[in-house]
Amino acid sequence: MVVGPSWGTALPPPAMPAALRLLCGVVVPAALLCAEPLPRVSFPSGDPRRTLTHFSQDNVSHYDIFLLDEGEEELYVGARDWVLALTVSTPGSICAKASIKWGPTDEKTSECAFKKKSQETECFNFIRVLVALNQTHLYACGTYAFSPACTYIHLESFTLASGRGQSFLDGKGQCPFDPQHTYTALLVDGELYAGTMNNFQGNEPIISRSLGTRTLLKTDAFLRWLSADAAFVASFSLPGDDKVYFFFEETADEFDFFERLLVPRVARVCKSDVGGDKVLQKKWTTFLKAQLECSEPGRFPFNVIHHAFVLPHHDGRANFYAVFTSQWQAGRAGSAAVCVYRQDDLEEVFEGKYKELNKEGSRWTVYSGPDMRPRPGSCSMGASSDKALSFMKDHFLMDGKVSPISGRPLLVKSDVTYTRITVHETHGVMGTPYRVMFLATDKGLLHKAVELDGGAHIVESIQLFAAPEPVKNLLLAPGKGILYIGYSGGVLQVPLANCSVHQSCAECVLARDPYCAWHSPEGSCRPARLATENKSAWLQDVERGSPDTTCHRGRSAAMPRSWGAPEDPTVQGLSPLLNAVVQLPCPRHSALATYTWQQPSGAQGHTVLQPDHTLVVIMQQGMAGTYTCQATENGYTWTVAQYQLRDSGEAGLGEEGSPPGSYWSQFVTVAVLLAVTLAGAACLALLAYRDQLRARSKVRGCSTPHSPPSRQREKVPLNGGTGEPPAPGAATEEEDEGSQACCLQLGGDVDVDNNRLHVPAGDTA
Ligand SMILES: *[C@@H]1O[C@H](CO)[C@@H](O)[C@H](O)[C@H]1NC(C)=O
Ligand SMILES: *[C@@H]1O[C@H](CO)[C@@H](O)[C@H](O)[C@H]1NC(C)=O
Ligand SMILES: *[C@@H]1O[C@H](CO)[C@@H](O)[C@H](O)[C@H]1NC(C)=O
Ligand SMILES: *[C@@H]1O[C@H](CO)[C@@H](O)[C@H](O)[C@H]1NC(C)=O
Repeated sequence: MVVGPSWGTALPPPAMPAALRLLCGVVVPAALLCAEPLPRVSFPSGDPRRTLTHFSQDNVSHYDIFLLDEGEEELYVGARDWVLALTVSTPGSICAKASIKWGPTDEKTSECAFKKKSQETECFNFIRVLVALNQTHLYACGTYAFSPACTYIHLESFTLASGRGQSFLDGKGQCPFDPQHTYTALLVDGELYAGTMNNFQGNEPIISRSLGTRTLLKTDAFLRWLSADAAFVASFSLPGDDKVYFFFEETADEFDFFERLLVPRVARVCKSDVGGDKVLQKKWTTFLKAQLECSEPGRFPFNVIHHAFVLPHHDGRANFYAVFTSQWQAGRAGSAAVCVYRQDDLEEVFEGKYKELNKEGSRWTVYSGPDMRPRPGSCSMGASSDKALSFMKDHFLMDGKVSPISGRPLLVKSDVTYTRITVHETHGVMGTPYRVMFLATDKGLLHKAVELDGGAHIVESIQLFAAPEPVKNLLLAPGKGILYIGYSGGVLQVPLANCSVHQSCAECVLARDPYCAWHSPEGSCRPARLATENKSAWLQDVERGSPDTTCHRGRSAAMPRSWGAPEDPTVQGLSPLLNAVVQLPCPRHSALATYTWQQPSGAQGHTVLQPDHTLVVIMQQGMAGTYTCQATENGYTWTVAQYQLRDSGEAGLGEEGSPPGSYWSQFVTVAVLLAVTLAGAACLALLAYRDQLRARSKVRGCSTPHSPPSRQREKVPLNGGTGEPPAPGAATEEEDEGSQACCLQLGGDVDVDNNRLHVPAGDTA
């Protein structure tokens, strides 16, 4: 049959599913109404443009916990049965410096196995707490085969301060029993604040304060200050502030729902708390909790919190960033959201009305009794009266909810589950501060998104691993411009940006990467932090990403050559035989650009556009000419590929017994075009079917008013962040159109660990 030569560049076509999905986006334009941010560029695993440094040690897995020293020279890693000290002083290299094997004794392992836990996956010592206690010692805790234990680590010798044989410290209340349980721990002024599970069964959560010299404090289990399934994801304390915040999720009692309803919460305790005297002895006297809101009209609320991060301001106040998914996942993979909360808004809720359980103990109502002075639970409170403490026993839930900044999520993204977030504040060449979010998914993607007025732009997406698996930890080393990634198989070092992937001013500006700017004297895209003098030579436009206005400035200066429209690509000349099928690829540099072909008028009707924007030409007489693929992004148009097709005057096929221009060649043309079109249509139909429900739910999300989950819908078997994932297909089938094929994708791997940066500036520790 007709298999003409295929003239192509070395660029492989993009992966089919991605290309098909794009096509579907065109076919189902309604889905485009909810324009959500797409990563502008996606780097597959192993892409040389985004090289990652990898570290792993033989026989060590689960690199869950990080602790970076203040100089960003050494990285301590808590793994399964191991604590490692790595030298990271040179970006691009990670070297093992020392390591400690700290596994459970054989006796503990067999006890663990006896309690029906797996010896292959669970009966190990998963390190969960790793903090810098003082100049000479670290403090570490691990699950220790379902029998949590803690120890000091002597830094200079890098050995356990309590040797083998000696018993370790009891880690109960500081570290979970079960490696699947979420946890958080924070060292403040030599005291360890921890949010974890306090028992083997995993139904008694606790917020505790230990170490140091003051009374050990905890939440009251009997008074049910926390629901039995509370799952902690992060904790923070700000320098010069008397409060410690815990972010977690739990089943809400205060709502009168048939099914289990999860709510994201923030709890607050005061550092100055020393517990009660007669009432609330050895218990917090300042424990308060409030609900976090993260929702958007037309979507189910994002009520499952996975992780949070604090970004302090210069004025001592802070913003809290948190990542969520929904308990009611619409569509196959559901969607994720980032909400940002002001510390002042949190505080306002904690200063507001309390909720209380009514006399029969069945319903939560707003406390309407007399105000008490001083206000119970406030940090400035000195010694409290027994009356105030008794009040605190029952008034720990706030009536108000904490709303995100501008009342809605900063970012909503379908088809992903963000499990970790870290935020970096950087400065553009003109000194403008930009906040860059690094968001890691349960499938091993890293999204870098810059916060813009009222939204977010995803600069890039990096596939971190060859096979999908969750990211367990993200840790920023801002001084070195590095992000550390922890996962089951090792540690990755990711540079915050690679500016040299952008080869022209236009590309550099379109990327809208705050870390990069076009240096016009050199004619290259370079790190923005190098712009210390002659700032006008550095071109950057993060807000609008407009090359037309930005790159022009460089051109009017003395540098005529390098203002940098992407260099027009070299024209490729081709002389195909008659009837040959020629493929003209058009490389996609940006997912945000639209691609169009300009072709000679004689070619109309004899070419087919493939979903990846490759133009298929069946060479006929009169089709010679220039074929140009152009990209348009953000109002800026440039040429991506250009081909010059010449008539070779020879027929490639059918010359035997059928002169050129005969029925045969007509037939061939029609047949090939039909085949290509049919193949495209078939793929499209398949994909459209697959994405049908998702697309539909998107459309609904755009156009229909907010419909809160009805009781009917709540028949979905719900599960928590720490529970077992629901059985596939466990979602209801009797629901209305919008939420059909509602696959719950929660729990299971929502194993949110704790990364604690020991930062001198004290933003998190
Ligand atoms: C950055 O990109 C350039 C050009 O694609 C590539 O040669 C270089 O190796 C990349 N550097 C890193 C650290 O990924
Ligand atoms: C890793 O474990 C295997 C099997 O237990 C053992 O043979 C090997 O020596 C270990 N490697 C190292 C570097 O400890
Ligand atoms: C650090 O803490 C450890 C354990 O409490 C203690 O033994 C050591 O003396 C402390 N070092 C300093 C310099 O305070
Ligand atoms: C800055 O510009 C001035 C004059 O335009 C030049 O003399 C100087 O070398 C430049 N400095 C740098 C670091 O490029």
